[in-house]
Amino acid sequence: MATIHADDGRVLRAQACVVATNTPFLDRVAIHTKQAPYRSYVVGLAVPRDAIVPALWWDTREDYHYVRLQAGTGGDGRDVLIVGGEDHKTGEAHDTGQRFTRLEHWARRHFPMAGEVVYRWSGQVMEPFDGLGFIGRNPADTANILIATGDSGMGMTHGTIAGMLLTDMLQGRDNAWAGLYDPDRKPKRNLREYVKENLDVAREFARGHLSPAELSSEAAIAPGQGAVLREGVAKVAVYRAEDGTVTRVSAICPHLGCTVRWNDLERSWDCPCHGSRFTPEGGVIGGPAVRPLAPMGEERQADL
Ligand SMILES: Cc1cc2nc3c(=O)[nH]c(=O)nc-3n(C[C@H](O)[C@H](O)[C@H](O)COP(=O)(O)OP(=O)(O)OC[C@H]3O[C@@H](n4cnc5c(N)ncnc54)[C@H](O)[C@@H]3O)c2cc1C
Ligand code: FES
Repeated sequence: MATIHADDGRVLRAQACVVATNTPFLDRVAIHTKQAPYRSYVVGLAVPRDAIVPALWWDTREDYHYVRLQAGTGGDGRDVLIVGGEDHKTGEAHDTGQRFTRLEHWARRHFPMAGEVVYRWSGQVMEPFDGLGFIGRNPADTANILIATGDSGMGMTHGTIAGMLLTDMLQGRDNAWAGLYDPDRKPKRNLREYVKENLDVAREFARGHLSPAELSSEAAIAPGQGAVLREGVAKVAVYRAEDGTVTRVSAICPHLGCTVRWNDLERSWDCPCHGSRFTPEGGVIGGPAVRPLAPMGEERQADL
C-alpha cells in the first residue's frame, strides 16, 4: 500500500502511486544525479495562412532550434510560426531577455514572411544522461512507487510510452521496453557528460558557500528585481517589488542546499542544481523542492 501525506493533513492510501510531476519531488538524490534542468525559449510569430508547409523542423547544430506551425491562431486567420531554442542550464544565464531577440532574428532570417511576435514564453526541460526518459519504479523506493521523468524535449513521445509502460507494470504484465527506460539504469555511454553535470552540481555547492554574494547592497536592487546578498555566513534572496516592498528569504534551496539565483525574465528564484523554482517571495513553483525558501531567521536544514 502506498501512503501519501497531503499538504492539508489528509492521508491518502492507494495500491500504487505514479509521480508524474516533470521531475520527481519524492526522490531526493538518485534520479537527480541522472538528469539536468535546462531552460528553453519560444517565440510565436504571425505568418500568412498556408504560407509555410506544416512540418517539424530542427537544427542539427549545437545552438539548437526547433520549429512548429500552429494553424489559424495568429489573429486575422493567420497561422503562428513557433520557433524555440536558446536553451541553457537553469540558473546559468544572465541574458535571458536577449534570447527572445536572438530567436526572433533567427526566425526572420529563415522565414522572411514572418510578421509580428504574438507569443513568447520559456519553460524547463529535464535532460537525461542518455536521452531516454526514466519511466518505471522509483529507485530506492518501494515497488509500488512509479515515476515518469527525463522527457528532454520529447514529452509527447515519452508521455505516450509512460502511459503504456506504467499500465503494464501496474497490471503485472511484461513490457519489452521496461529495461530501456528503467530509472535505475546506469550510464554506459555519455559517461563524460554524466560526470560533467554532476561536477557542475558539486561546484554549485562549493560556490554557494564560498563565493562573494552577487550584489553588496540591497539599495542596488531595482524595483521588480531580486539578488542574492551575503549577510555574515547567511545568503539572503532579496526581492524588491514594483511598489518598493522588500521580501527577504533564505537563498538556500530546501531540496539539497544549493544557492538559488535570480531569473530576471521570469522573476523567479531558480536553483541551478536540480531545477527547483520559487516565486519572488519564496513559494514553490516547481520541484524537486516541496518547501518554500525559508523566511530569514527560520533557516533550516535542506530536506535530506
Ligand atoms: C519550451 C518547450 C518546448 C517543448 N517542445 C516540445 C515538443 O515540441 N514536443 C514534445 O514532445 N515535447 C516538448 N517539450 C517537452 C514537454 O513539454 C515536456 O516534456 C512535458 O510537458 C512534460 O510533461 P510532464 O507531465 O512530465 O510534466 P508537466 O507538463 O510539467 O506536468 C507536471 C504536473 O505536475 C504538477 N506538479 C508538480 N509538482 C507537484 C507536486 N509537488 N504536487 C502535485 N503536483 C505537482 C504540475 O503542476 C504539473 O501540472 C517542450 C518543453 C518546453 C519547455
Ligand atoms: S533543486 Fe536540488 S538543491 Fe535545489
